[in-house]
Amino acid sequence: MRSMVELCCPHCRGRLAQENNQLRCTACNAIYPIVDGIPCFTAADTWYEGRFTATHPAVYRNIQNPIFKAFFKGFQVVSLTFRRDRFLILALRHGRRLAKKSGHVVLDLGCGGGNQLLTQIGSVVGVDLSLASLKNAQKIYTAAIQCDATCLPFPDETFDMIVSFDVLGHIPAREKEQVFREMHRVLKKGGEMVHGIETDSENIFWRFGKRYPELFQRYFVEEIGGHFGLELPRRALARFVDYGFTVLKAQMHYTLIWEPAGYLITFDNEYKSKSLVIRALVGASKVVNRFWLLKAAVSLLSGVATDFLNRFLDFDQATGILVHVRKD
Ligand SMILES: C[S@@+](CC[C@H](N)C(=O)[O-])C[C@H]1O[C@@H](n2cnc3c(N)ncnc32)[C@H](O)[C@@H]1O
Ligand SMILES: [Zn+2]
Repeated sequence: MRSMVELCCPHCRGRLAQENNQLRCTACNAIYPIVDGIPCFTAADTWYEGRFTATHPAVYRNIQNPIFKAFFKGFQVVSLTFRRDRFLILALRHGRRLAKKSGHVVLDLGCGGGNQLLTQIGSVVGVDLSLASLKNAQKIYTAAIQCDATCLPFPDETFDMIVSFDVLGHIPAREKEQVFREMHRVLKKGGEMVHGIETDSENIFWRFGKRYPELFQRYFVEEIGGHFGLELPRRALARFVDYGFTVLKAQMHYTLIWEPAGYLITFDNEYKSKSLVIRALVGASKVVNRFWLLKAAVSLLSGVATDFLNRFLDFDQATGILVHVRKD
């Protein structure tokens, strides 16, 4: 087991002693197994186990050809596809300045298979429910730990930065407060957090989707991976303020223009028979998805159009938000 952060019992915060392939709490005697180097503080989750295992690669770091390099640089700066990574990179630059002061320790909450971008700013600890995902995250992170975000096995003020991508929208409303309490507890004073949060929305696609509650539950909530805790963007942002975080930056992620794959995941099903416009959108998305150059060009245009459009849209029209906050 590699770990540069101290672990503690998630239930009583007692000290842990390593005994062969397990950790034992010296205060309450709870036993936590270590499986393939991954300390396990919770039972396997039947919904998430094996669902999100892919590792996000670093953004085009290995391209040598100068023309491709210039193209992809432009792509990173404007495309819809890199909107989220752009936000993260800017926040990380800020984090890296802070990192100079001390060894930076980052928590990737609900890490799935991990994100190589994060490893550029410090030692990353990934936590998730799924062991299969953690086995991949372990290949690029300093430590991978199986635990529930509501009950973290770290002492107070352990991390300089916490990030989560597409996780908070998965946390059911009844567990949300506990997750925020835990994030606030394990983040150092002056530490920062970056979150990409999938949200409920008041935009036209969501209003259309909700006209068919059964389809909505299936395609907006379940089959997309388990959006069991979606909240409107304003509410999702207000949670950080409620917990005393200072909002450094907050922006809408997707609003009306989505990736072609997004339209397909959501609408390439019974929804198609409900509207001609939706059927046309699905057809066009399939064509765009088939040709990578066309897909790249559409992503560039969509990025520019989204930046322009979002200026005129209400915050609750977003279907996801990007948030950068600090604990003062
Ligand atoms: C949509 S995936 C995102 C994975 C990764 N952050 C990414 O960007 O690819 C959501 C992840 O959150 C994890 N997750 C959901 N609820 C969790 C909880 N209560 N505690 C820890 N992880 C959780 C799931 O196991 C899943 O890997
Ligand atoms: Zn204990």
